[in-house]
Amino acid sequence: MMRTFVSAAQLRPQVVQWQREGRRIGFVPTMGNLHAGHHSLLAIAREHADVVVASVFVNPTQFGPNEDFARYPRTPEADAAGLAAHGCDALFLPAVEDLYPYGAANSVKVSVPELPDLLEGAIRPGHFDGVATVVAKLFNMVQPQVAVFGQKDYQQLLVIRRMVRDLGHPIAIVAAPIVREANGLAMSSRNQYLDAGQRARAGAIHATLLRMRAALLRGEPVATVEADARTELMAAGLAPDYAVVRRADDLGDPGESKGEKVALIAARTGTTRLIDNLLIGT
Ligand code: PAJ
Repeated sequence: MMRTFVSAAQLRPQVVQWQREGRRIGFVPTMGNLHAGHHSLLAIAREHADVVVASVFVNPTQFGPNEDFARYPRTPEADAAGLAAHGCDALFLPAVEDLYPYGAANSVKVSVPELPDLLEGAIRPGHFDGVATVVAKLFNMVQPQVAVFGQKDYQQLLVIRRMVRDLGHPIAIVAAPIVREANGLAMSSRNQYLDAGQRARAGAIHATLLRMRAALLRGEPVATVEADARTELMAAGLAPDYAVVRRADDLGDPGESKGEKVALIAARTGTTRLIDNLLIGT
């Protein structure tokens, strides 16, 4: 039976009891509107923990003024049913006042340096500060030993890893593989904004990532791979914000270095922005 906790005050005694019983807490933070990608994180948390806690909280501080906070899809009943069906023990549904007792604008902020200036961060100023801030607060409330984040949001994963190391959170961060639709499109809550034609065209993002990887492994220069990727995306009717190859550990310019790399794409179709990535071993 999954239990639901609607405030930090309500969750705390349960956390204390789990700790007294010596149970390892695994945590999956989400913004709801859950799909198979989110559900896959629960199974991974289960491998590392005795109790699995998922949170659903649409975090206002990670949305820009012109982004989709107000119209972000909220589906609480379906989310609870899906979590219960996929082995979640506890659902944490905090109120805005729990996370932001002084109001979102007057919150203490966690600001991770460097990484947020790149890629998604450059396009969405303040986004990763909002993510780091809310995740730090959720970590304090849930007190997990392990937390699972999708590789889908690759830069977010690196920001969280860096925050945990720098703040000394005693939490292991586990990366979960990207769950995809049949045409390769990475599952996302934003996919439901797509019409049938856009959804079909969006399959080109993953196809392009696969071609980027193949070209790099053949030894083509990074600049050529990136330029060809942009051309391919545009030919498929998508508008790329970026299509790049970076070092996997810090998203720096890979130069001719041999270490692990990651290909990352953000592309728009209509008013919807989609992101995806693929690790490239060497
Ligand atoms: P949200 O977009 O709801 O995603 C919650 C988690 O699910 C993230 O770790 C994300 O990377 C993962 N995820 C999403 N789509 C996935 C897919 N197709 N395959 C695998 N994992 C996937 O990311 C957030 O929420 C927020 O920024 C949050 C961390 C909760 C802070 O507010």
